[in-house]
Amino acid sequence: MEFTQVLSERSSVRDFRATEVPAALINEILNEALKSPSWSNTQPYRVAVATGERRDQLARDLKSRYDEVSALQGQPTWKQAIMSWVRGALPDGDYKPILKYPEELQRRRVETAKGLYRQLGIGREDRKARDAQTGKNFEFFGAPVVMFIFVHEGLGVYSALDAGLFLQSLMLAATDRGLGTCAQGALAMWRSPVARAFDIPPKYNLLCGLSLGYPSDHAVNQFQPDKRTLEEILLPGRD
Ligand SMILES: Cc1cc2nc3c(=O)[nH]c(=O)nc-3n(C[C@H](O)[C@H](O)[C@H](O)COP(=O)(O)O)c2cc1C
Repeated sequence: MEFTQVLSERSSVRDFRATEVPAALINEILNEALKSPSWSNTQPYRVAVATGERRDQLARDLKSRYDEVSALQGQPTWKQAIMSWVRGALPDGDYKPILKYPEELQRRRVETAKGLYRQLGIGREDRKARDAQTGKNFEFFGAPVVMFIFVHEGLGVYSALDAGLFLQSLMLAATDRGLGTCAQGALAMWRSPVARAFDIPPKYNLLCGLSLGYPSDHAVNQFQPDKRTLEEILLPGRD
């Protein structure tokens, strides 16, 4: 593919075919992503790749935790916290999820979520269907491959920046080969199931996950949220 075509063809895939991705192909795209730039060339990230039974076990572990937590929605916060703890489902990720978005960003977040649910035919009030859709994050949207990205805590925000560059290279390399991806912050909500499956070096924090596989024909994969215009992101100069 032409580079510009790869750039415009990449979009988040939220429904995958069960078709396995050959290990050699997974390594090929990871090797391409390794060419990414990083702070002082430190490459402060590590990647855990799960396929087969390990992937299935992770999906079971993460989905059951999500189900426990979502069943408590609507209960007082203290009750949610106690019950999640009692049931072993209290989020134990390295980074706190953002519960309250800054107002200027919240609007885009809401518009994107609305667009996604509209594409799926899920009504605004249909909490059950929305929760079920969110739950698919934890089964990797059916993808046969899931990756977990870890960053060294010692570089602070710069390790996240480097991991982001690595992720984008990885997603573009995958797109170039007809594969689909979805970066997923949701997959950093619980660390313990991932820590049971992989030997994680000290000081490496779980930043996010990535589902990888061949996109299905499901309508959700046609969803293309709008992007900001150039005028919106360019800052005006001072006179
Ligand atoms: C760091 C990061 C975390 C994300 N987390 C999630 C997630 O947990 N679940 C999800 O469905 N999409 C997730 N996304 C996908 C975004 O929603 C998506 O990139 C955005 O809506 C723009 O759509 P596009 O990727 O199709 O261009 C994430 C993307 C990034 C870059």
